[in-house]
Amino acid sequence: MARRILPILASQLLVFFISSFSATPVTGEDEGFARSLDRKLLGLKKEKLSHFRFYWHDIVSGRNPFAVQVVPPASNASSGFGKAQGLYASASQKEPGLLMVMNFAFIEGKYNGSTITILGRNSLFSAVREMPVIGGSGLFRFARGYVQARTHTFDVKTGDATVEYNAYVLHY
Ligand SMILES: *[C@@H]1O[C@H](CO)[C@@H](O)[C@H](O)[C@H]1NC(C)=O
Ligand SMILES: *[C@@H]1O[C@H](CO)[C@@H](O)[C@H](O)[C@H]1NC(C)=O
Repeated sequence: MARRILPILASQLLVFFISSFSATPVTGEDEGFARSLDRKLLGLKKEKLSHFRFYWHDIVSGRNPFAVQVVPPASNASSGFGKAQGLYASASQKEPGLLMVMNFAFIEGKYNGSTITILGRNSLFSAVREMPVIGGSGLFRFARGYVQARTHTFDVKTGDATVEYNAYVLHY
């Protein structure tokens, strides 16, 4: 796709919410709280498959970094904890394996205002890392699919990286 689509990769403060709530286990349509809907009522017509290509800029150096470490690594951990746009956290003891939780937010064109949400494991030393697309908003309601991430450039000195993301998304 020729159009340039920039994911928003702004630094955000991390806030963890831990909550517990209970729900009364009621099931069945006759209970009055659930009903079948014709998908056309939500404007859902034919599911389509789209391919997007993003360049993900993980700039950690300089005066305006895109990613900031919010939780320092444990003293004997072999890899660091950190976060980017949504967040990424080191989730592996033995190798750089990240838990990625992020949104690709479209800021122009047809998809402006819509988002794609990715949650998965990013094994940094693998040439291609696959992560699930677990949903989306706006034009990506009910989205599912996967992304493949490939490191495009990596500056060992600064830690700055550019990662190519190819996203394959089924959506309406
Ligand atoms: C360091 O690792 C060892 C086991 O590998 C563990 O028992 C210990 O609690 C760790 N220390 C810290 C500060 O995480
Ligand atoms: C994208 O949408 C926002 C919010 O509606 C709007 O302010 C902005 O101008 C739009 N950007 C483009 C490039 O259309």
